[in-house]
Formats: sequence, C-alpha cells, structure tokens
Amino acid sequence: MSKGPALVAELEGLVGECAARLDQALTLEDLEAIRVEFLGRKGRLAGLMGQLPGLDADGRRDAGRAANTVKQSLTGLYDARLAALSRAASDAALAGFDPTVPGLAPFGGSLHPVTLVTAEICKAFSELGFTIVTGPEIETDYYNFEALNMPPEHPARDMQDTLYITDNVVLRTHTSPLQIRTMLAQKPPVAVVAPGKVYRRDSDLTHTPMFHQIEGLLVDAGVSMADLRGTLTAFVRRIFGPRTNVRFRPSFFPFTEPSAEVDISCVLCGGKGATEAGTCRVCKGTGFVEILGCGMVDPNVFDAVGYDTERYTGFAFGMGVERVTMLKYGIGDLRMFFENDVRFLSQF
Ligand code: DAH
Repeated sequence: MSKGPALVAELEGLVGECAARLDQALTLEDLEAIRVEFLGRKGRLAGLMGQLPGLDADGRRDAGRAANTVKQSLTGLYDARLAALSRAASDAALAGFDPTVPGLAPFGGSLHPVTLVTAEICKAFSELGFTIVTGPEIETDYYNFEALNMPPEHPARDMQDTLYITDNVVLRTHTSPLQIRTMLAQKPPVAVVAPGKVYRRDSDLTHTPMFHQIEGLLVDAGVSMADLRGTLTAFVRRIFGPRTNVRFRPSFFPFTEPSAEVDISCVLCGGKGATEAGTCRVCKGTGFVEILGCGMVDPNVFDAVGYDTERYTGFAFGMGVERVTMLKYGIGDLRMFFENDVRFLSQF
C-alpha cells in the first residue's frame, strides 16, 4: 500500500497522462472511453482514492486534498476537450456552407393566362348581373347543333370541324349548347355566361384541337340590339381599357338573327393601322381586330326550348379566350399556351 506522498504523486500523475490521452481523442466515443477510464466509478481516480483509508491521518489529509484538485483538473480537461470536439464536428457539418449567401426563393405556381383571363371575363359579366354556368364537354348532336337551329344537313355544320364520338354524340364544338341547357332549365329573365373547353378537328399555327370559349346569353321582355351593343361595349372597355373603340360588323350565325361580329380598335397600334415599324402586324393595317361573334337569339332557338317568341327577345355572344388573351397580352403565338414553359406561364 502507498504511503501518503507516494499516493499524492500518483494522483497528480493522472493529470498529465489524461491530458495526453485527451489530446489524441478524435471522436466523442474516444472521449467517453477516457472519461470512464479516469473519472468513472471504477476508474483510476476512484481506484487511487480507495487507498485513502489505509493512510495515517496526515497522509489521508494530503492525499485527500490532492485527489479533489486532481478530480477538478480531470473534469476541466475533459469538458474543454468535449467542447472542442463538438465545435469541430459542427464546423465539419457546415463546411462549404456560407450562411450569408441569400436563399433561393421557393418556386411558386401561378395561374395559366387562359385561366386568369377566363376569370377576368366572368367577373366583368357577373358585375353586370350575369351568373356563371357550365356544362358537359361531351354533347349530343341535339344540344350542339339541332336546337341551335342547325338541323341535319345544315351547311353551317361544315364550318365546325366536329370530332364525333358516335353519330349522335360529339365533343362540343362551341359553348353555345349552354344556351339550350340554360333555357331548358329556367324561365326568363336569363343572364348567363358559360366558360369552358371546346374541341374541333383542326390543328395548325393558329388552331388547336382544344381551346376555350365563353358564351353569353341574355333573354327578357324587350331586349334589343341596343342592349347587346351597350353590354358588349362596356365589357370590352373593362378588359381592354376605356379608350377602346368598338365596331359591330354584320355577320351570320345559325342561332342568331341578325348576327354581328365585334371588332375592337387594335391593341397594338390603337386603331391607326401602323406603328413606327410600318404596317401594324396585329391588325394588318385595318386598325381593328375581331374579338367575338354575337346576335339576337333566333326565334327558332326559342321555339326549341319552349320560350314564347312573342314575349321574349334576347341576345347571345361567344368568344375565344385564347384569342382575347393573345390580344390583351400581346402574345403572338398560340402554341405558347400549350407548351407549359414556366418561364412563359409565370409572367402573368
Ligand atoms: N358559337 C360560335 C362559334 O363557336 C360563336 C358564337 C357566335 C356564339 C355568335 C354566339 C353567337 O352565342 O351569338 O363560332
């Protein structure tokens, strides 16, 4: 058994030995092993302290003091090394990470321009008192053609390159069947707009097999062409600005009589027909661009839905949403709408 001074020397020797071992420790596991070896309940410090009871009183006092000091030193060394290793570990995890670099904005989706313009058009009409209705994209011949004053063999059917599912069932070629569905479901007064997809067997630079239309229908006692003109003029100025001029040109549609096409003053040249670059490429020098078809509901259509043609008159209109969107935003190529290029789509 050691005498007092010998035990003190042994105790003090632990400090240097432990410090050297801690310097070598590279991982938290190494560190824990060293802690157990020196400071653990059955460790080397505890072992030496176990010898205290065998000493005389002076020896016990000196060695006891030394043991306390050594324990503090060992604990301090261990804590310092633990802090250093922890810091090194987090530095390593963050190596190459510069916390001052600005973050990347998360990618946020945006609404498709056709969706946006559809919503804008519907809002303009709903503020004028119209309600919004929708209907099926797969239609029967009756709703798509016959009730709209296009009986079988009617030449106007050729104007619409129809996609047939069966002889009697088609992909709707326009939103006009919503006129029929609405009038069969409710009595006048009626004021509705109907947005939706329509389909035609047509595909080139300026036509796609699917596109979007918005139909409008207003029926009541005493509705005149002046109401049509006033309503559509108000609408056009809401969408294209208060200085837009509107021109009604006689036209033909089977379901309206009389019928008209509506032109607006050119969105690019403002109606002058020319820009600094020469003849205006949007209106081809005419100063106007066509935006929709319209007319007074043909009495044959009222007959088909059982409306009293002596009491009621009405107007209808239909427009292509892609076309309105192209004019509104100056988009020159219809294909942009269908390519799903987010650099294009996120600009609206
Ligand atoms: N349905 C026609 C088309 O697809 C557009 C149209 C013209 C609708 C005149 C109407 C209208 O309601 O009155 O070409």
